Amino acid sequence: MIINTQKAINLLLASSFLFSFSASAAAKEPISSPEGKYLVARNFSTIPDDAFGEQIKRGYSLFTNSQQMRGKYVMNELNCTNCHLASGRKENAAPMWAAYMAYPAYRSKNDRINSFADRVQGCFSYSMNGIAPANDSPELIALASYSYWLAVGSMLDQQGLHDVAVPEISNEILMQGGLHKEFTLPAAIAKAYPIDKRNQLPGRGFKMLDKPALEPSSDRGKIVFNDHCAQCHGPDGQGYKANGVQSFPPLWGDNSYNWGAGMHNVDTAAYFIAENMPFAQSIKLTPQQAWDVATFMNSHERPIDPRKKK
Ligand code: HEC
Ligand code: HEC
Repeated sequence: MIINTQKAINLLLASSFLFSFSASAAAKEPISSPEGKYLVARNFSTIPDDAFGEQIKRGYSLFTNSQQMRGKYVMNELNCTNCHLASGRKENAAPMWAAYMAYPAYRSKNDRINSFADRVQGCFSYSMNGIAPANDSPELIALASYSYWLAVGSMLDQQGLHDVAVPEISNEILMQGGLHKEFTLPAAIAKAYPIDKRNQLPGRGFKMLDKPALEPSSDRGKIVFNDHCAQCHGPDGQGYKANGVQSFPPLWGDNSYNWGAGMHNVDTAAYFIAENMPFAQSIKLTPQQAWDVATFMNSHERPIDPRKKK
């Protein structure tokens, strides 16, 4: 088991290198039309060397090592990047560049218009089984700055404007998101991303799957889990730690997302898994396997929905 885990960790390191490598390589290709093309995050070396830049870097740091907020805002072993892969940059893994441009928006989950900050708070309450930081907290401002920078920087790059800096905006507008009526994109790209298309950037959220031919089955899912997931997520679904740090995240139990989380919807989990798991391997699950293993994963105990505690 130890050898397998080491192998898996090497894989993880190699693949995160691949992500950043392909991101910077692809950023050099100017794309004239945004239609059907995924945005590619701007190279991190272009983050400005000022107070705004510090906020962006802090957001990246909180996103990738959310355990810094453990005990205060985060009550499980997860980091944002465990689900929003490649530090929130990977298409079809709910990337932050697409998310930022899609708020404010109405959500049936809480039956009101949600700003970008509200939406991030939702992932704290459910995915992180935690306590959401306040709207004006430095943590939320940092996470919004990082997401905003990813979005606008990658749009500028997609239009070939690699040298144009991402302008700093007021915190008030920053927390609302790119669909707010007072939010303005840099003039040079405003036409390419009209407000009625900004919330549908290709690669947003997860890629939907057709319903499976057979009713999803937890029993078949268990077989898929043992064959394709257990080597990294552990035979008990609790993942693995290396030097005290959770390198492979738990899929259920006290240290995972709670019942109210998006990943707890079997559909959402199936979409995520089909596209992104097994992590960094050439194996591709069939849609049926993805539905089955998502059903198996979500049939386990996990923290209850905090809305049901009262
Ligand atoms: C257990 C997995 C998981 C973790 C961990 C997680 N999220 Fe999410 N997040 C989701 C899912 C699932 C969605 C819903 C995606 C969809 O719309 O299909 C989501 C949606 C979002 C959205 C809206 C995306 C969109 O396009 O509308 C934002 C913003 C977001 N998360 C931010 C965060 C931040 C910040 C953190 C860390 C504090 C975090 N998430 C941690 C699973 C997770
Ligand atoms: C090679 C190792 C590996 C395999 C195999 C693998 N995963 Fe993962 N999985 C990971 C890693 C690593 C992450 C976190 C990604 C990151 O932080 O960049 C992850 C994240 C996840 C997450 C989101 C975080 C969480 O804990 O909820 C889910 C759900 C998930 N995997 C399910 C699966 C399922 C189901 C399978 C089998 C079909 C599977 N994984 C196979 C390594 C693996």
